Amino acid sequence: MSSEKIYIEKNSVQETLIIPLYGRKMCSEKFPELYTDAFAKRLCDSLDYDFSELDKKSNSFLYEFGALEAAMRQLDMIWEIKNYLKNHPKATVVNLGCGLDDTGKACDNGFCRIVNIDLPDVISVRKQLIVEQDREKSVAYDLKDYSWMNEVDGSEGVIFFAAGVFHYFKTDEVKSLVLELSKRYPGGCLVFDTVGKLGLRLMMATSIKNMGINKVDGLFYVNNPAQDLNWSENIKLTSKAYMLGYYDMKNPGIRFFHRLLARLADKLIKMSINKMDFK
Ligand SMILES: C[S@@+](CC[C@H](N)C(=O)[O-])C[C@H]1O[C@@H](n2cnc3c(N)ncnc32)[C@H](O)[C@@H]1O
Repeated sequence: MSSEKIYIEKNSVQETLIIPLYGRKMCSEKFPELYTDAFAKRLCDSLDYDFSELDKKSNSFLYEFGALEAAMRQLDMIWEIKNYLKNHPKATVVNLGCGLDDTGKACDNGFCRIVNIDLPDVISVRKQLIVEQDREKSVAYDLKDYSWMNEVDGSEGVIFFAAGVFHYFKTDEVKSLVLELSKRYPGGCLVFDTVGKLGLRLMMATSIKNMGINKVDGLFYVNNPAQDLNWSENIKLTSKAYMLGYYDMKNPGIRFFHRLLARLADKLIKMSINKMDFK
């Protein structure tokens, strides 16, 4: 692992990995009873990236809420992965658009395999900062080019998860990827988060714009998962509320207004965690 700081390119899709990484670091510091990501602080410290704007806002209520969003999403994903591994202990756990997220390791049961996939520049940063363990590999691909699927053995079961990734895809691209996965991996499962149209507009107008990112045109939003994601008879869909669908967030430091906003985010912004089981 290098001791030199690693540069993150501004105004790139790659830069979007900073948002959830910083959120996980903040959440680990502010709400450790809810969520701890042991590596997020070390990873932030290892990056050549100006966090001062984010640091300045880190005590504001809305930024605290943003940190909770990042943590809840990861906790929800971990819940689904561990649940799948109960019945498929040797499954492959695939982190789609992994950024610098180490959820695979957090779910490791000693038997599963872990594959982390992201664009080449991100995987290059990841490999310099995060050590791969046994049964784990990180590979560089564009998810829209399905040759990455040759890296994923689903013979003992497979669970794919995409945290904060499909907002940067067009609806047709997500649909086509999902249908391809359902064809290739019967018995497999995909978990991903979505927001409704209003949520996507807010994301583009706030967090992402604040970071000066202007190249990401996220077009995939889901107002009503049961209707909007009804793509194939071979897919069984289950959707839960993102903020409060898995945990009640009744933890020290989490205020009544955080939970109220969480409820509003789930209801109005339509934040969901969607699980697709491939028949
Ligand atoms: C908001 S970040 C989320 C990172 C990580 N999932 C997390 O929760 O910290 C979005 C990630 O998706 C990756 N990504 C976006 N489009 C991609 C594509 N076409 N192929 C592979 N990765 C992609 C980005 O490089 C970035 O790392």
